[in-house]
Amino acid sequence: MNVFSDREAMSQAVARALVEAVSGCTRFTIALSGGGTPKTLYRLLATDFREQIPWERVHLFWSDERYVAPEHPESNIGMVRKELIDGVPIPEANVHAPRTDLEEPDDAARLYEEDVRRLLGYDPRFDWMLLGLGEDGHVASLFPDSAAVEERDRLVVAVRDSPKPPSLRLTMTPPLINRSREIHMLVAGASKRHALEKFREKKSTTWLRPPTVWVDRAASIRDDTRRAQDHVQEDRDEKDHRH
Ligand code: 6PG
Repeated sequence: MNVFSDREAMSQAVARALVEAVSGCTRFTIALSGGGTPKTLYRLLATDFREQIPWERVHLFWSDERYVAPEHPESNIGMVRKELIDGVPIPEANVHAPRTDLEEPDDAARLYEEDVRRLLGYDPRFDWMLLGLGEDGHVASLFPDSAAVEERDRLVVAVRDSPKPPSLRLTMTPPLINRSREIHMLVAGASKRHALEKFREKKSTTWLRPPTVWVDRAASIRDDTRRAQDHVQEDRDEKDHRH
């Protein structure tokens, strides 16, 4: 786990690692994460690190997307366009955003799977898979105990009952995420302490191949109050189980 003083320092380090990973590649494919955490990284890539990346060789995908129009404030595509794409000379043909305008999200998921296969072939492996971590342990739009986590064949599926709004989403699935050459998880802020601890103790998101984890200090501090509550609950569960 790589711990940094704050989100800015964490994002700087991830940007440096990305610059290094891209250099020397003739083509570099990244699946981007949404939410608030990676915004600083995207902004840095479009400013301080802009000249260090051969943008014509980079291909962008989304590990998940909320099923709203790109202009909608909740859109991950809209967020990435604003923070990153609008500021860098990446060819539009290298921006592979999922459709969110079809009446049937399952059709959009199928089309996105085809887009992935068109570029990456029948054993699709992203060079970098970027993920966040939700307070409930979700990554991309794969929520604990949801059917999508169990998906074994499809590479992208629609999610209809996301507990984090908006409820309708598209997400890459474990078989696609876990095939990636490198998986990077960015976690920042005190609200993520408990989720991070559970993840590190392998009490959540156990389907995910161990990623490189980048965190800020606020997220890395152990959450002793929540930990104590958890132990009480675990003891109760154990007793219930014995009876
Ligand atoms: C989304 C995400 C999601 C996100 C986590 C963390 O579209 O909601 O891609 O998986 O990465 O929920 O989100 P924050 O960075 O906003 O906490």
